[in-house]
Amino acid sequence: MTTIALIMAAGSGTRTGLDFPKQYLEMSGETVLRRTVRGFLDADGIDHVLVVINPRDEDLYKEAVAGLDLLPFAPGGDTRQDSVRNGLEALAPLAPDQVLIHDAARPFFTPDLINRCLAALKDHTAVLPAQPMVDTLKSVDGDRITGTVDRDSVVAAQTPQCFRYGPIMEAHERFRGRPVTDDIALAELAGIPVQWIAGEAGNTKITTREDVKIITSQELTDIR
Ligand code: CTP
Ligand code: MG
Repeated sequence: MTTIALIMAAGSGTRTGLDFPKQYLEMSGETVLRRTVRGFLDADGIDHVLVVINPRDEDLYKEAVAGLDLLPFAPGGDTRQDSVRNGLEALAPLAPDQVLIHDAARPFFTPDLINRCLAALKDHTAVLPAQPMVDTLKSVDGDRITGTVDRDSVVAAQTPQCFRYGPIMEAHERFRGRPVTDDIALAELAGIPVQWIAGEAGNTKITTREDVKIITSQELTDIR
């Protein structure tokens, strides 16, 4: 049984307003990417880690992962979906059984999340860590509120999104070009049943300028 973590790091992080991609930001003495990658290298049950990067960032990447035992990087594409497909294709020669697809920009997950993902993957083809909503959700039409959404019928998707390799590779090939924002959406299109498990409140994605301010502030304590 071969399980590979695919780390998505080919984005440019435009929403942070930084002049370099957010995965190369320093946080408590190491880059976001290095911390994410170490989380998977240190986890039980992960055989290899492959990072997908923009080849333009190769120097930043090499510096960020110096000394870590990784598969050679794969080049990303224009969209996250293209980047994931490139990464999955790069894994084909290794014939993995399972793949955990994770955003480099989510460095705060714990080993427990990986353990629970792998446990769920024993019984399911696709597993999504997700969080129940804490806020009340409203539907809108422009600037008008049109209703209240049943909070019990929605969850917020996180990564790692976990799959048997064959079915997700096939879904990526089949629905290439169909605009989706995560890999579970492709599993849905392909009719693959998806099991959700509890994510982690701390497993947030660094996305905005505010996120950057928080993680680079002096008060940040190590939460892993
Ligand atoms: N990603 C990727 N290839 C892309 C776009 C995104 O590998 N073409 C990765 C990012 O590096 C990130 C993850 O997918 O780790 C989640 O995407 P997002 O948070 O949207 O990051 P960016 O696309 O880099 O940021 P932005 O949308 O603000 O430009
Ligand atoms: Mg993006």
